[in-house]
Amino acid sequence: MNFIELAQKRYSVRNFSDKPVEKEKILRCIEAARLSPSACNSQPWHFVVVDEINLKDRIAKETVMSLSGMNKFTLDAPVIVVIVIEKKSISSTIGSFLKGKDFSLIDIGIAAEHFCLQAAEERLGTCMLGWFDEKAVKKLLSIPDSRHIGLLISLGYPANGEVRAKNRKSIEEMSSFNSYKKEK
Ligand SMILES: Cc1cc2nc3c(=O)[nH]c(=O)nc-3n(C[C@H](O)[C@H](O)[C@H](O)COP(=O)(O)O)c2cc1C
Repeated sequence: MNFIELAQKRYSVRNFSDKPVEKEKILRCIEAARLSPSACNSQPWHFVVVDEINLKDRIAKETVMSLSGMNKFTLDAPVIVVIVIEKKSISSTIGSFLKGKDFSLIDIGIAAEHFCLQAAEERLGTCMLGWFDEKAVKKLLSIPDSRHIGLLISLGYPANGEVRAKNRKSIEEMSSFNSYKKEK
């Protein structure tokens, strides 16, 4: 599988089988995340793998929006990974301040995608989760007040082999050469 094929193969899985995920596969996903780039090589992340089923269920419940049922599928995922944003290095903190950008959010986004692409390579499914009750998840995992959670990732074997077609802007719409020019 070449890289574009892998990128096409990764999609947000919202239908998980209850087959447990092998620890060595999870560790390879973590290794892929560990290799990702970060501003000033700050590596401002800590990955908490939650595969103990009762704890995982309690965390899953904190991702579900009660009105719409959004994220209910997390209850079926055997694993949830919680990405904690660690303190940036001094150089990244200064850079973030001077440039008005929180580099750590960019960093964890890249690391999360490395994780998800490796999972796709392992034939595992993932879905990044930005919607969750941060306070409740922090309490369940004893994450100190001084830390924030950037993202959660649900992980497991997809219940079916379907790969959803991508719904994306065209290359012309989302890119241009040599100037910011958008097609009308
Ligand atoms: C930062 C971020 C937060 C997301 N949060 C959620 C979420 O809470 N629930 C969900 O079902 N999908 C969530 N997604 C998945 C997106 O909806 C999905 O990536 C997008 O629709 C493109 O579809 P694809 O991943 O299948 O290619 C999130 C994705 C990202 C990058």
